[in-house]
Amino acid sequence: MSDIVEKLCKNKNLSDEELFELISSDKYDEELYSAADKARRRFYGDKVYIRGLIEFTNYCKNNCYYCGIRSGNKNAVRYRLTKEEILDCCKEGYALGFRTFVLQGGEDPYYTDELICEIVSEIRKGYPDCAITLSIGEKSKDSYLAYFKAGANRYLLRHETADSGHYGKLHPKDMSYDNRRRCLYDLKEIGYQVGSGFMVGSPFQTTENLISDLRFLQDLKPDMIGIGPYITHEQTPFAKYKSGALELTLRIISILRLLFPYALIPSTTALGTIHPNGRELGLKAGANVVMPNLSPVKVRKFYELYENKICTGEEAAQCRGCLERRVESAGYRIVTAVGDVKKNI
Ligand code: SAM
Ligand code: FES
Repeated sequence: MSDIVEKLCKNKNLSDEELFELISSDKYDEELYSAADKARRRFYGDKVYIRGLIEFTNYCKNNCYYCGIRSGNKNAVRYRLTKEEILDCCKEGYALGFRTFVLQGGEDPYYTDELICEIVSEIRKGYPDCAITLSIGEKSKDSYLAYFKAGANRYLLRHETADSGHYGKLHPKDMSYDNRRRCLYDLKEIGYQVGSGFMVGSPFQTTENLISDLRFLQDLKPDMIGIGPYITHEQTPFAKYKSGALELTLRIISILRLLFPYALIPSTTALGTIHPNGRELGLKAGANVVMPNLSPVKVRKFYELYENKICTGEEAAQCRGCLERRVESAGYRIVTAVGDVKKNI
């Protein structure tokens, strides 16, 4: 085993120069993937956790330059799910074995804190044995606290990039890296299991930026780390920038697994979108979570963050079945447990 990978396996802190070499060279790929697989098996065996994703609104007040549902995309067909529709998704998901529901959406002021709390507490009442994850963007600490008290216990908020200059190139002026960071530390302080992450290959991203992302995560110590390739969307200012690469995304997944052996790391839909076996390859590179879609089929194609997004025509049960086969073909096994993070092994 090469010195760098061995050092990483022993959980020693790599220098920026060593990280640079690992990230930017493809000579370590197979070695990295198998070292990462070993680390995931030590913590999680062959288990893959499933999270039921409910994309409940594609309205968003933000205008992130990379995102297909940004407010400035006047061609997007907008939708919102009612509380009853969201509860129906949970009911179907529970029957299919899901024990985590992820409510994700744009930052949509229609869903006031009161309404979010009402939805969360009804889910909590109906499914006391489930985890409720929110992924609804940047809010005040008081709002996060209210959702937590209503019964939410996990929150996903990718930091997107830990370099404020790069952040400024991906977002309009009314958004800031400082606020994103503030949100993540507030969420942790409140007691959420927190997930952060970033896109691989986003426009203007450098290897130095990726190193800053890893350093930021080392400081935050999140429970979940979601990364996936950036994928172009035609109706954004980044229409001419190319999508992120499969190999680099896999390499970063492996590095994350070795840096954070305890973490819950999804093999994302974006990875499955850029390569037909992307999610299987993500699992083999160290990921241990998949997030099948539980949203009603009638709205799925409208949650179009990027082009050619997969799984927009399948019913929830088909999504679950398809992923189960894919996970098995990669040599792992889906479990229906709530799947909390394992920090002490
Ligand atoms: N509004 C919430 C938030 O900001 O966290 C959740 C929804 S947002 C669409 C979820 C994630 O989608 C973002 O954190 C971003 O990393 C990812 N995303 C958006 N546009 C993308 C694109 N073009 N390619 C890949 N991922 C994208
Ligand atoms: Fe808000 Fe993408 S700009 S979800």
